[in-house]
Amino acid sequence: MTARPWTPPAVALDTEVEALAAEWVAPYNQREHLMRARDWLVHLNPEATVEMRVAAMTHDIERMFPGGPALRHATAQWDDPFYLFPHSLRSAEAVGVWLGSLGPVSASVGVGEIRRLIALHEVGGLNGADDIQAADSLSYLETLAGLTREWVLTGMCSRAKGAEKLVYSVDRIRVPAARRPAEELLEWALDQLPTDAEAAAAQEETR
Ligand SMILES: [Fe+2]
Ligand SMILES: [Fe+2]
Repeated sequence: MTARPWTPPAVALDTEVEALAAEWVAPYNQREHLMRARDWLVHLNPEATVEMRVAAMTHDIERMFPGGPALRHATAQWDDPFYLFPHSLRSAEAVGVWLGSLGPVSASVGVGEIRRLIALHEVGGLNGADDIQAADSLSYLETLAGLTREWVLTGMCSRAKGAEKLVYSVDRIRVPAARRPAEELLEWALDQLPTDAEAAAAQEETR
């Protein structure tokens, strides 16, 4: 087994809006993925704005609310725009509504900018959006390698399809400083995927 590579320390929540965002995302089952995206963001760019930090820590939050776009893992193209775009825009919408409900606190941040960054989190873009995308990718590899393993183990997708998702998370990165930690995490994450035979045996056992 490959040992887990170095990952950055957690970054303290130093604004009111970030403390409130952490509370808001707490019930989400992938909360750790969101919080680690923020830690990776600050590692990659210590000057990251509060808008960038809030975007990182809420970028997937639409999944906490039922009714979002669905993905078929077995056959998905991991860059499928008909999944990624509704997913990103729905998260941006949810965060816009939540910020709007905060009253005066929301006046301390650029709500439009947070929505823009979230809407671009899967594909990257200008003025910090590439940093968010890289941080999301790194956090995916760190916190959701186990979930990808579960997809294969439970037969939601093949090992090759799971591996493709992990490789895509690295290949899409556009920030040079993120490449090396991503490649190290990729090796570790790929190592955790069961073979198709192991997955079939595990499914047989649970039958
Ligand atoms: Fe996402
Ligand atoms: Fe994400």
